[in-house]
Amino acid sequence: MKRIVVKPAVRPLRGALKVPGDKSIAHRALLLAGMSDGVSRLRGLPPGLDVAATRRAMESLGVEITGEGDSGILVRGRGLNGLAAPSGPIDCGNSATTARLLAGVVAGRGFSVKLAGDETLSVRPMERIAVPLSRMNARVSGRTTSSRTTLPLIVGGDEPLLGAHHRLSMASAQVKSCLLLAGLRARGETAVTEPRVSRNHTENMLRAQGVELYGHGRTVMLRGPARRLEPLDLELPGDASSAAFMLVAALLLTGSVVDIDGVGLNPTRLGFVDALRRMGGEIEGEVLSECAGEAAGCLRAVGGAPLRGTDVLADETPRLLDEIPVLAVAAALARGRTRFLGCGELRYKESDRIAVVVEMLRAFGVHVKEYSDGFDVTGTAGEPLEGGGRVESKGDHRIAMAAVVLALTARKPTTVCDSAVIANSYPALFDALARLHDGSVVCEEG
Ligand code: S3P
Repeated sequence: MKRIVVKPAVRPLRGALKVPGDKSIAHRALLLAGMSDGVSRLRGLPPGLDVAATRRAMESLGVEITGEGDSGILVRGRGLNGLAAPSGPIDCGNSATTARLLAGVVAGRGFSVKLAGDETLSVRPMERIAVPLSRMNARVSGRTTSSRTTLPLIVGGDEPLLGAHHRLSMASAQVKSCLLLAGLRARGETAVTEPRVSRNHTENMLRAQGVELYGHGRTVMLRGPARRLEPLDLELPGDASSAAFMLVAALLLTGSVVDIDGVGLNPTRLGFVDALRRMGGEIEGEVLSECAGEAAGCLRAVGGAPLRGTDVLADETPRLLDEIPVLAVAAALARGRTRFLGCGELRYKESDRIAVVVEMLRAFGVHVKEYSDGFDVTGTAGEPLEGGGRVESKGDHRIAMAAVVLALTARKPTTVCDSAVIANSYPALFDALARLHDGSVVCEEG
């Protein structure tokens, strides 16, 4: 398994950078373009493995997709009801967004689709989509152990889907999106009420494709079956979740000034910016454009301001869920205690992210306390950590990247094991860091 030794940064980070296109938006664009009536052009798709899994999935459902890279891809939509039965199981790789959203796409089509995934995806909870999809008349079965349903899932159903009102027990954009996607082809109203508002990319994209969504507060509704989806012409913004690693690295290395250009500035994704500002971090954002309901612009971080601890509580977590590992890194060097509470959902991510973040921080010598639904971190008030240890990413790209950021600030080189998982979302992370640092931060790979 690949490991990497990360050297402490010897200079501040300086310069402007674009991060890969937004992963959440990319999954939705591939799925919804494939179900539209016409040819969509998508530019700026991220190169990571997760999005590649969604592309392959749509191709196996008969959608023709041509092109790669910066010039963009063309997706020839087959209409809402035109997807074809795949010739074998669909491999969702490590991507829960692929598996969960796809389940909503293929439900009730008159053919069955087997959705499979890698080792870590195969233990993640799927009852959260299986149960509500069944209420809509879909047939969904998976591997079942006591209260849990996991991949492989067989999703099908010969009967027409029926709209339903769903009240979710957790804020989850994946579950909400799965149900809205199924609702597009269901008879009657589909409504999803969340305990807290999660990212709204599916809603933005559906509106851009001509679907009427309505609702209030934490409830979103649509009436199916939708007549058609307009094709998309989309320039994807950069992924704020990838930008977060660079921005925190810049805040922690005195003298740094880093601009992330063309990054997504959807407020449902920017909770981490609010938390870092509360901690004293100097981050500015400016909206410069909008495409299909998604704001984009620049985020600038200036390093060196002393950070202080803060409370990150349940109400805020859906807006920064994926950024908690890197916020914990900022907390490790802040003055005082930072509490992350009401984030039990983290235990069901690419790893048990509470346990694995705690373990990662302890490998650096940070004082951390673990709770069932969170953890707290006592920071060093800016004093660099010793480093020199070995961190296990446990197959979780965001843990590996958070460890890389903390390693940059430590006194001694740190080994990050299973670092290849970084390719799930940000394959060019080390090239980008080397550019900002004006010299590589990696001393050994193996
Ligand atoms: C995502 C939603 C979130 C997030 C994941 C991407 C999405 O998951 O953690 O990385 O694209 O909808 P949940 O829906 O499980 O909260």
